[in-house]
Amino acid sequence: FLAGVRSSAIDTTDAGGRTPQLALHVLVGTQTGTAEAIAEDLGRAASGYGVAVTTIGLDDVEVDRLSTMGHVVVITSTYGEGEMPDNAELFWETLQASTAPRLDGLKFSVLALGDSGYDGFCQAGKLIDTRLEQLGAERILARVDCDVDYEEPAAAWTTQALSLFGALAPTDADAVPAPAPAAKPAKKPGRTRSPWTRKTPYGATLAVNRVLSGPASSKEIRHYEFDLGDSGIEYAAGDALGVMPSNDPALVDAIIAELDATADESVDGSTLADRLTHGFEIRTPSKDLVAELADRAPDSELAGILALAQAETLDSWLRDRDILDLLRSTAVRFDAAALLDVLRPLQHRAYSISSSPLAADGRVHLTVASVRYAVGDRLHGGVASTHLADRVAEGATSGIFVSANAGFRVPSDDDAPLIMVGPGTGIAPFRSFLHERRERGATGRNWLFFGDQHRAHDFIYEDELGELLTGGVLDRLDLAFSRDQREKVYVQTRMRENGKELYAWLEEGGHFAVCGDASRMAKDVDQALHELIAEHGGRSTEAAAEYVHSLKREKRYIRDVY
Ligand code: 2AM
Repeated sequence: FLAGVRSSAIDTTDAGGRTPQLALHVLVGTQTGTAEAIAEDLGRAASGYGVAVTTIGLDDVEVDRLSTMGHVVVITSTYGEGEMPDNAELFWETLQASTAPRLDGLKFSVLALGDSGYDGFCQAGKLIDTRLEQLGAERILARVDCDVDYEEPAAAWTTQALSLFGALAPTDADAVPAPAPAAKPAKKPGRTRSPWTRKTPYGATLAVNRVLSGPASSKEIRHYEFDLGDSGIEYAAGDALGVMPSNDPALVDAIIAELDATADESVDGSTLADRLTHGFEIRTPSKDLVAELADRAPDSELAGILALAQAETLDSWLRDRDILDLLRSTAVRFDAAALLDVLRPLQHRAYSISSSPLAADGRVHLTVASVRYAVGDRLHGGVASTHLADRVAEGATSGIFVSANAGFRVPSDDDAPLIMVGPGTGIAPFRSFLHERRERGATGRNWLFFGDQHRAHDFIYEDELGELLTGGVLDRLDLAFSRDQREKVYVQTRMRENGKELYAWLEEGGHFAVCGDASRMAKDVDQALHELIAEHGGRSTEAAAEYVHSLKREKRYIRDVY
C-alpha cells in the first residue's frame, strides 16, 4: 500500500450501490507510515458504516479546495520536537497563512500521533485541529492524541469517527456519488499488510554482524543482515526496519541491586530480570519516574530543578543521567513493582534499511552506528544499537518488522537523475537505492555525496562504492572527510563546489534525497541547496525558495532525517 496511499484512492464504494454513502476524505500526514496504516484500517472498515473513503497525502491537498470536500478526517504524525511531517509542510504553510480560505461548512476530526517522550507531543495534529476550527470548520469529534502505544486509541477514534460521519450519510433520495479523487487516478494496489508488526515482530535470524569502520575510528559502524526466512516479509527501498531491542544485562543487574531486589523475584507473572530486560525502557528516565522521585524526595537536587519549571534546565540535568543515576541520586527506595509502574514500555527503534529487496536475496540489511559513551566512570550504550552489536550474535534471533516510509522512494522514473546526500550512516538508504537502480537497469544518472570524519577509518562500503562506480551505476561520488585537513569539509561544501553541475542535474528533472542528522547536517544541506539554486539559476532568494518548494511538491526533494 506504500506507494498506493499517497496517490490512490482506497475506494470503498459499495459495488452494488445498495446503500447511499457519505464521501469522506482521509488526509494523511506521515513520517513513518503509522498514519497510513491507520488510514488503511479506516478505509477497510468504512463501507460497514455507509462511508466511502478517499485517502490523500496532505501534500496533495489543495487548501483552496478543502471546503468542497465537505467531510474530512486528518490523521497526522508529528516529526521531531513538534514539527510537521515532511509531507504536511506545504499544506500547513498554506493553511496557517493569513490568506487561507474560510472553511465554513467543512466537518472534520483529527487523530494526532506522537511520542510523549518528546517536547511538542502531537503538536502537528494539535495545530491543524485548532486552525481548521479557526477557519470556520466544524469539529464533529474531539481530537484524539495517541502516544507510542497508539493502536487502541486509534481504533477507538476510527470507530467513533466512522459512526458519526456514517450518521450524516444522505438518504437514498440525495445519495452522493463516491468521491472523485482530488489528486491523481488510482494506481494498482500495493503490497498487502504484513502480519509482522510492532506488537508481533518476526524473530529473524541475524546472518551477518560485521564492523565496517576501522579500529581507529571514533565510531563503530556495523553492517547487519537478517534472514527473512519464510516470514513473507516484503519491503521497499527507502523503508525502515523496526528492531525490538533487549536491555543491557549489566544495567539490569545494577538496577536490581540498587532496588535491593533479586533477579528472579516474580512480577507480572515473570521474573524481575526478564521484565527489566524485555519490558521497559531502563535508560532514559520517564516523566513519571522524574515526577515520582521529586515527589518522594522534595529536598533532592532533582526536585529543586523540577520546581524551576524550566524545561531546558531539566533536560540538560537529565541528559547524561540514566535511570540508575536517578535512583542513586536520592535516598528514596522503590520496590520493584512501584518502579515498573513509572517506567515506559520498551519501544522498538527504526533504522533505514540499506539493502534493496531486488538484490538482497531474502535478507534485509542495516547499517548502524553503535552508540557508546562514557559518563564519569560509567559506560552508557544506546539500547537497540548495542542490542544488535553485543547481544545478537550471528545465528541468534531478534524481533523485527518493516516500518514503511512511503515518502522516501527511488524515483519511479528510471531515467531521472538522482542526487543523494548521506554522510555517515546516512548512506544506508542510498546503498539500497543504488542496488535497486542497478537491479532495475535504471538508466538515470546517480550522484552520491558521502563523508565522515576520516577517510582512513570511516570510508564505509568503500569497495562496494568503487564497484558501483566502475560498473557505471554510480556516476559521481563526492567525498567530504571533515577531519583530514585543517578546515572542516562537509557534504554541503562539496555541493557548493559542484553547484553548477548539481543545478544542471535538477534542471534535467533530477531528484534530490537527503539522509542523516536532522539537527545540523540536513539544515545546512537545505541551505546550500537554496543558495546554489539562487546562484546558478540566477534567482532571487524568494525565487530559489519557490524552486525548492516545487521540488518538494513534485516529490523530487525527499528526506529521511532524524
Ligand atoms: P565533524 O564531526 O568532523 O564536525 C558524520 O558525522 C560527519 O558529519 C562528520 O564528518 C561530521 O563532521 C559531519 N558534520 C558535522 N556537522 C555537520 C554539519 N552541520 N553539516 C554536515 N556535516 C556535518
